[in-house]
Amino acid sequence: MEPETKTFVCKKHGEYQGKEIDIFGKKIKQLCPKCRDDIDKIRDDAKTRVRRRTALESVYLSFPKRYIGKSFDDWITKTKSKERNKKIAVSFANKIILGDSRSLIFSGGVGTGKTFLATIIANEIAKSGLVSRYVKVSSLMRRIKSTYQQNASESESDIFNELVKPDLLVIDEVGLQYDSKHEQIVLTDIIDERYCNNKPTLVITNADEQTIHNHLTERAIDRLREASGVVKFDWESMR
Ligand SMILES: Nc1ncnc2c1ncn2[C@@H]1O[C@H](COP(=O)(O)OP(=O)(O)OP(=O)(O)O)[C@@H](O)[C@H]1O
Ligand SMILES: [Mg+2]
Ligand SMILES: [Zn+2]
Repeated sequence: MEPETKTFVCKKHGEYQGKEIDIFGKKIKQLCPKCRDDIDKIRDDAKTRVRRRTALESVYLSFPKRYIGKSFDDWITKTKSKERNKKIAVSFANKIILGDSRSLIFSGGVGTGKTFLATIIANEIAKSGLVSRYVKVSSLMRRIKSTYQQNASESESDIFNELVKPDLLVIDEVGLQYDSKHEQIVLTDIIDERYCNNKPTLVITNADEQTIHNHLTERAIDRLREASGVVKFDWESMR
């Protein structure tokens, strides 16, 4: 059934007419048409064109090479849940471009496309000149440990500052290690500092809504869930 047209209020532009789709309890509002125009303007802006190079490079430098250059058109939506997650991702990307800083959690089994969709988001916002950074928890923790050695070339706060800077930070493979208090503290610090600086973070995990509490502190989860709750990837592996 076609959803009916409703009146929504955009914080910036006021009332507009649009549709709200409800897929398995996640409500996704159509974007305000004036915000849509704003996104087009940002994309065509001369300043964006200068920044775009750096932004695309940022994706190239840290995200998995196999997903670079992919767009939302490459995301197959044969089922309703896949369509829902695409819509959530499109809306998340649009909001980042418009300066909204709310974060997100992707949760689901192996091979369900979490890393793929995260990279598409990074590709998408790079077109608007926004810089993204991708880290796996395991390599982040390894890097942090190496700063404790004597004569280390970088400090823990160097790494911290580097991860707070980008417009979007994707933290992948959260929850693979067992019971690491140190990991919880590191991730909460990063997520919290980004939150305080109005910068969105996307956390990806195989853990479900219950077990995620073993890997992130309540404070971190609270900040991450602000946008859309936990986005579930609840289908079989696509590998
Ligand atoms: N909706 C989709 N459309 C097209 N390809 C997809 C889709 N979902 C997943 N894939 C493909 O499935 C494969 C696995 O995706 P990806 O690496 O993102 O999984 P993942 O959820 O991150 O898994 P893991 O938890 O093991 O890291 C990739 O080759 C990806 O291109
Ligand atoms: Mg992955
Ligand atoms: Zn608007």
